[in-house]
Amino acid sequence: MTAHRLERVPAIIYRESHTAIRTNVLASPLQAYKYENNRRYHAYREGSYWGPNDEQDAYHQKVAHHLFTLVLQDRLYFAPVAQPHHVLDIGTGIGLWASNVSDAHPQAQILGTDLSPLWHPDFTIRPNLTFEVDDCCSNWTYLDEGRELFDLVHIRCLYGSVKDWRKLYQQAFEHLEPGKGWIEQVEVSLVPRFLYTRGDAVGSDFCHKEGKGWDSTAADHDSNSIFVTWYRFWQECSKRTGKTWFVADQMASLIYEAGFEDVRQERYMLPLFDSSEGIAPTATTTSSICGEYSDYPVTRLAEIARWFRQFWETGMEGWILAVSTRYMGWTANEAKEFVAKTNQVLAEQSSRVYYELVVVYGQRPLLEGVS
Ligand SMILES: C[S@@+](CC[C@H](N)C(=O)[O-])C[C@H]1O[C@@H](n2cnc3c(N)ncnc32)[C@H](O)[C@@H]1O
Repeated sequence: MTAHRLERVPAIIYRESHTAIRTNVLASPLQAYKYENNRRYHAYREGSYWGPNDEQDAYHQKVAHHLFTLVLQDRLYFAPVAQPHHVLDIGTGIGLWASNVSDAHPQAQILGTDLSPLWHPDFTIRPNLTFEVDDCCSNWTYLDEGRELFDLVHIRCLYGSVKDWRKLYQQAFEHLEPGKGWIEQVEVSLVPRFLYTRGDAVGSDFCHKEGKGWDSTAADHDSNSIFVTWYRFWQECSKRTGKTWFVADQMASLIYEAGFEDVRQERYMLPLFDSSEGIAPTATTTSSICGEYSDYPVTRLAEIARWFRQFWETGMEGWILAVSTRYMGWTANEAKEFVAKTNQVLAEQSSRVYYELVVVYGQRPLLEGVS
């Protein structure tokens, strides 16, 4: 039995009738949380994840869930699994996606795992939803425990959290039903893109992923933008922690290399600027940009921009505080000043910057190596 299996804690125990419920996660060493610069962090595998696990972060996760639901037009997943039976949500956070799936598919058993037992007690009322404290980077022991193979493994927003993505995808592959099971991952690409109109031309400039350059001649104010500083910050974090913040732009090929077939990718625009002054709703300017995007919900752009700004405003301090002070030699005050400066830029709305939400899904083939 592995150590991490021993530490796995069921979030809930049902009495026989399923009518009375009690949780048994309180007073657990897994909740001996750590406090740093007035934010709370996970205890299990302490220090391995950059994000706080406090109320402020729970609120940020709610904003994020609403934003993604809006962008993906209420679709919980794209993989063609009409009637899932066993679903795994890795790094489930407070469990919003998992609880939505458990409601939509009462016939399915949903398992959400996380380093922190953060899920809201209301979610655990569902008889088909279970949460466990687990580290997805450890060796998975589900099959040793006699559990069923999954027909959907879902991952969302694990940027900067995983050292060895190949191993994670391989484990997911081995735990999916051959010929039936799908993996699906949703991530925000942290590469900033700047929309421009030059004469008749409409396009976008963006940072090269690995280098310092741009894909075309960027306006000076764009290359000096605070969002380029964020980009360089995340590049440095990736180097210093050995965990990439740019998995959104790598996952399609890594998932394909892990042996999945029929791998598909959808990209959605996440504007940070007020789109009513930029690209929407004037179709002439949207078409050449949005043409690159899958099934793009143009009419929702302004709303998406508002929620994406909320995503930044509620998330920034949590994104930066631990990594900058632990790995980059910043003080907490420097981190907070950077957040305040970014908030100012967001309020000024002077930059036509946008990011992308990337969805990748692929199927475990019936026979390996045969497609
Ligand atoms: C940014 S939050 C995303 C939460 C959720 N997936 C969502 O999209 O709403 C990342 C979550 O992954 C969890 N996490 C990070 N590293 C993990 C690991 N190695 N094993 C399990 N969970 C992990 C964190 O504790 C956190 O709750």
